Amino acid sequence: MIDKHDIADEFNVKEHIVITESDALMALNTLPDATFKLVVSSPPYNLGKAYEMQTSIQQYLRWQTDIIKELARVVADDGSIIWQVGNFIDDGEVFPLDIYFYPIFKSCGLQLRNRIVWHFDHGLHATKRFSGRYEVLLWFTKSKTYTFNLDSVRVPSKYPGKLHYKGEKKGQPSGNPLGKNPSDYWAMISQEWEDGIIEIPNVKSNHPEKTSHPCQFPIELVERCVLALTNEDEWVLDPFAGVGSSLIAVIKNKRRGMMIDRDPQYITITKKRVLAFQDGVLKMRPLGKPVYKPTGTEKVTQMPSEWLNEKQEKLL
Ligand SMILES: C[S@@+](CC[C@H](N)C(=O)[O-])C[C@H]1O[C@@H](n2cnc3c(N)ncnc32)[C@H](O)[C@@H]1O
Repeated sequence: MIDKHDIADEFNVKEHIVITESDALMALNTLPDATFKLVVSSPPYNLGKAYEMQTSIQQYLRWQTDIIKELARVVADDGSIIWQVGNFIDDGEVFPLDIYFYPIFKSCGLQLRNRIVWHFDHGLHATKRFSGRYEVLLWFTKSKTYTFNLDSVRVPSKYPGKLHYKGEKKGQPSGNPLGKNPSDYWAMISQEWEDGIIEIPNVKSNHPEKTSHPCQFPIELVERCVLALTNEDEWVLDPFAGVGSSLIAVIKNKRRGMMIDRDPQYITITKKRVLAFQDGVLKMRPLGKPVYKPTGTEKVTQMPSEWLNEKQEKLL
């Protein structure tokens, strides 16, 4: 049963869903202290995407420092911040943003709990360096007391039948009936977010969640964070929310959510997505659905015949 709450455009603790069209820093300045159990976001990476003006890395980090100071203020004392980042690239040189962000969060008194690697198999093919196939989620908490609902996010174990082989528990199952800890390496689909096409062998289809936003979160990525780090009815904030993927993850799991984005086009898409979710018609990839693995018999997994000769010649 989906709860249908109204959408408010300004934060009020009585609301359930808040969608604010604003500059992030301006909106954050108006929010009360110690309110959000979780802040989860993917900030602009300063790559000159459609939604950002590229500046120097120093200027970018000064702006982000002001944002993070505000986030440290508004996050609950037992709350968490998840900051999802990739690389900033300048003239072919790579600047891994998590390395730059770590000292900023530390200077705001936050403590790192995990540096999670989000691995995906698709993306641009680099020619002058190895192709990038992961990004990072930095998980910080405001204090030593924080929520971590491991049982809500366990994944199936590879060997559930494994037994203790010595000691008092010898012969008893050694794992957990709910599955294993998902670890700090998350292989989740990000399927061609650049062009919205998934290459399922012989079938080209649009990814169920894809909108016109150039770099959307998969909803399931945020769901894992929401389920592990918050409880029902608690507040979650995304200050750079794009088309509201985190908001969908939040309301799907009966939490309260606020999202901020300064782009009216993304705000409109978010509102439509929320309404579609409430009407039960939003297309989503189910949480934990295994990433498609080709069997090797599909045409796209076969080497083209003209390459076979070419390869042979190159090897000679
Ligand atoms: C990496 S995208 C986030 C995408 C999001 N995770 C999703 O699933 O759609 C960053 C977003 O930050 C927004 N943005 C950039 N500068 C901003 C600012 N100063 N204030 C608020 N939003 C901003 C952009 O419009 C963009 O949608």
